[in-house]
Amino acid sequence: MLFPNNLIVIIQCNIRVLGGLVSAHLLASDSSKKLFQGTYNNQLLFLAEDLGKRFLPAFNTPTGLPYAWINLKYGVMENETTETSTSGCGSLILEMGALSKMTGDPRYESAALRALRKLWSMQSSLRLFGTTLDVESGEWIEFSSGIGAGVDSFYEYLLKAYILFGKEDFWRMFHSAYVAVQKYFRHGPWYHEADMRTGKATYWQLTSLQAFWPGLQVLIGDITAANSSHREFFHVWKRFGVLPERYLLDHRMIHPTEKYYPLRPELAESTFYLYQATKDPWYIEVGETIVNSLNRYTKIESGFASVKDVTTMQLEDHQHSFFLAETCKYLYLLFDDSFVLENNYVFTTEGHPLPVLSAWHEKLPETYIPTNWTFMKRQPAARRISSMSLQVCPAMTLNSGQHVESACHIPDVRSDYRCLTDEDCGVDSTTCRRRSCSIAGYCGLWIF
Ligand SMILES: *[C@@H]1O[C@H](CO)[C@@H](O)[C@H](O)[C@H]1NC(C)=O
Ligand SMILES: *[C@@H]1O[C@H](CO)[C@@H](O)[C@H](O)[C@H]1NC(C)=O
Ligand SMILES: *[C@@H]1O[C@H](CO)[C@@H](O)[C@H](O)[C@H]1NC(C)=O
Repeated sequence: MLFPNNLIVIIQCNIRVLGGLVSAHLLASDSSKKLFQGTYNNQLLFLAEDLGKRFLPAFNTPTGLPYAWINLKYGVMENETTETSTSGCGSLILEMGALSKMTGDPRYESAALRALRKLWSMQSSLRLFGTTLDVESGEWIEFSSGIGAGVDSFYEYLLKAYILFGKEDFWRMFHSAYVAVQKYFRHGPWYHEADMRTGKATYWQLTSLQAFWPGLQVLIGDITAANSSHREFFHVWKRFGVLPERYLLDHRMIHPTEKYYPLRPELAESTFYLYQATKDPWYIEVGETIVNSLNRYTKIESGFASVKDVTTMQLEDHQHSFFLAETCKYLYLLFDDSFVLENNYVFTTEGHPLPVLSAWHEKLPETYIPTNWTFMKRQPAARRISSMSLQVCPAMTLNSGQHVESACHIPDVRSDYRCLTDEDCGVDSTTCRRRSCSIAGYCGLWIF
């Protein structure tokens, strides 16, 4: 019933079903949580393994990049499309890596890693990636990309894989990719799309999936940038009552057909992260606004329904699984964070918590107890929130002599450093301090 004709999209099944099973298994087998009544005999792990095995035939391509679709019963179907997305190839490592660690069977992690490395090798000279590609030839199909649909969780998983597994390699990949995003896609607090080959802007659109980005920025301590983008997204939410799927920044209007709001979680998610990082009560108010909007526009007798058109608030008979897995979860955690304060979790892109365990981690001591690691532990000061922020800032020169740009760096709005207000100035790459506008109209770090 769950999968008509046994056909599934691997990436969706991975983040929703495999991630759910793996996470639930870890919670159920943690006896200190007492979440499971009776005896737990790894039933969920057996299901996860059974599912993971069914993914493997999809990776059997000349490139190692997986097919987008697979039949859970028969494997890859005849004449299956060879087109897939960047996130389809790059957002598997958390769940499949965890499955390998839990079962001792290395095949899942290897398959996900091989696909990720192949994808990584396909970056352009600007360190950008496209949105869709061919799994047989390893060639790009769509060269324009941004941080939204088709790419989003690829960036997210590079960083989260580093947090979960502690491999330096993941950090280096994330750092390089993040800097390129900030350089080519960012325009003030907004993110547009650009061509991976030239870096030239292609589409000036706000898409509701982009709203996860500030949450990711919190994990690396880039609070200033996260705060300013989050504010703009929330502004759009308030203007329409919910977040429209696509908004044309250049025409200042909603996309003519993508006017829907399918109860997406991204703004609530970023609000949760920003509140954890800053404890600024303003984010609680944002959460209240979101909850009130959901109750006002989407609540029906049997639950909550997707909005078909945000200009009329017409509903449709549909509720995606991410509404419960993420939207409700992040809103709950915003108001009651005891769950994250007691333990150190990485949330997958579908909101499933995975504990950070020394047994899976290259750097943590063997006696490590999963607390005291996370970015979120009672540390109100932005810079100290992330264990990784220390590595991001300041800019570094490696032993090899290569200069690594700091990830907190936000260039000034104008390339000639001229400004009218502080808003036109970015964040200094060496000190990670916000630059401000002088009386003479130049951005700089003015110390008075
Ligand atoms: C696959 O494509 C070939 C060539 O176009 C066609 O003859 C065959 O019937 C297709 N098979 C299926 C299962 O659609
Ligand atoms: C976020 O931005 C607002 C408006 O610019 C500012 O008042 C607030 O202090 C900022 N918060 C953080 C944590 O940077
Ligand atoms: C976590 O850190 C605090 C303060 O550094 C310490 O008191 C506590 O014992 C630590 N908890 C664990 C489980 O290591």
